[in-house]
Amino acid sequence: MVKVNDNYLKLQGSYLFSNIAKKVNGYVEAHPEAKIVRLGIGDVTQPIAPEIINTLHEAVDEMGNADTFKGYAPDLGYEFLRNAISDYDYKKRGCSIDPDEIFVSDGAKCDCGNIQEIFSVENRIAVCDPVYPVYVDSNVMAGRAGDYDKSTEKYSSVIYMPCKEENGFMPEFPTEVPDLIYLCFPNNPTGAVMTKDKLQEWVDYANKNGSIILYDSAYEAFISEDNVPHSIFECEGARTCAIEFRSFSKTAGFTGLRLGYTVIPKDLVVDGVKLWDLWARRHGTKYNGAPYIIQKAGATIYTPEGRKQIEQQIAYYMENAKYIYNGLKEAGYSVSGGVNAPYIWLKTPDNMTSWEFFDYLLEKANVVGTPGSGFGPSGEHFFRLTAFGSRENTIEAVDRIKNL
Ligand code: MLT
Repeated sequence: MVKVNDNYLKLQGSYLFSNIAKKVNGYVEAHPEAKIVRLGIGDVTQPIAPEIINTLHEAVDEMGNADTFKGYAPDLGYEFLRNAISDYDYKKRGCSIDPDEIFVSDGAKCDCGNIQEIFSVENRIAVCDPVYPVYVDSNVMAGRAGDYDKSTEKYSSVIYMPCKEENGFMPEFPTEVPDLIYLCFPNNPTGAVMTKDKLQEWVDYANKNGSIILYDSAYEAFISEDNVPHSIFECEGARTCAIEFRSFSKTAGFTGLRLGYTVIPKDLVVDGVKLWDLWARRHGTKYNGAPYIIQKAGATIYTPEGRKQIEQQIAYYMENAKYIYNGLKEAGYSVSGGVNAPYIWLKTPDNMTSWEFFDYLLEKANVVGTPGSGFGPSGEHFFRLTAFGSRENTIEAVDRIKNL
C-alpha cells in the first residue's frame, strides 16, 4: 500500500506567496476595474541590464554552433563563473573562498530548501521569527520540525528566536543550543542588518557549541552602510561553522532567469564527514546544473560595465525603499528596514492583525503587501512592503496609503 510522506500534511495552508496570489486574484476577479499595485512578493520589475542581455544573445548563438555548443554543465558550475565569484564576492572582501567551494545552482531558494537533506532528521533547527518560510517548511517536509501547535503557531521541535521591535529585530542566543541555525541578513522580511561584531558573536557561538550556521545573504547587494558584513566569511572562524547562500535574483534581476550559489568551505566537518562531500554528492546525483547561457549571463555582473548597470538598478530600488520609508513615516507609521535591504517593515495601525491590514490595504488602496504573521508569530501586527516595484507604482502606492 502506497503511503504519502505525511510530513507534508503538517504544513500549514499553502506557501505564503501562493496564498497571497490566490487572495489577490480573487479580489481582481470580483473587482476587474481595480488598479492593483503589487508590493507583496519580492519580485523584481526592472528589465535585465543591457550588458547581460548582450551576453545572453551571444551565449544563445554559441549554443547554435557545433564548435561552441555546450551540453551538461560541470557539476559545480562553470569555472569562469566560480572564479569570478571567488574573486569578486570573496577575495575582494578579504575572505578566502576557493572557486571549488562554490556550487552554482538555479537559485538560493532551492539551495536553502534542499540543504537540510545532508543533515540528520534528529538535528534541531533554530530560526528567526519572523522568517523566510522556506527554512521552516522544508524542515517540516523532512520531518524535522515536530508537530504544529495552532495556539502558538509554532512547530514543537523548532527553536524560534523572536525578532521584535524591543530587540531591534535581532535574534538572541537561544537557551537551548540548536544544531542548525538559519540566519538571513540583510533580513527578509524585516530589513534589519547585523553588524560584523554581532555576526562574529554568532560564529563564535556556533564554533563553541558545534552548531552550523546556514547563512542566507541573498540581499547583500543592498547594503549601504559600513560595518555590515556582506558575507559570513568576513568573520573569523566562519569556515568551520557556516554555509552561505547567494542569489542573482535580487542582485541582478534574475528571478525569471534563475541563478544562485552555495558556499561550503572544505574545512566544514561534522563527525569526521566533510559537508562539502555530501553536498557535492547530492548535487551530482540530483542536479544537472544551471544552464550555460544563464551562467554566462551571471558572470557578466562581474565585468565593469555589467557591475555598473546592476548597481544602477539596485540604486533605483533603494530610491523606492527610501520613498516608501519616508512616505510611511510622514503618514505616521512606525517603520524600519529599507536602508540596507529592499524591504520595509511597518507596524500595522490601530492594532490591526497583519491579515486585517492586508485586506484593508487591498480593499481601500488596492495595494498588495505581505502580512508579517505569514513569516511567523512574532511578525503579527507587522507588514512588509517591497521596494521592487516600478518607481511609478511605488509612488502611487505610497500616495494611496497616505490618503487612507
Ligand atoms: C520574498 O518575497 O520573500 C522573496 O521573493 C521570496 C524569494 O526570494 O523566494
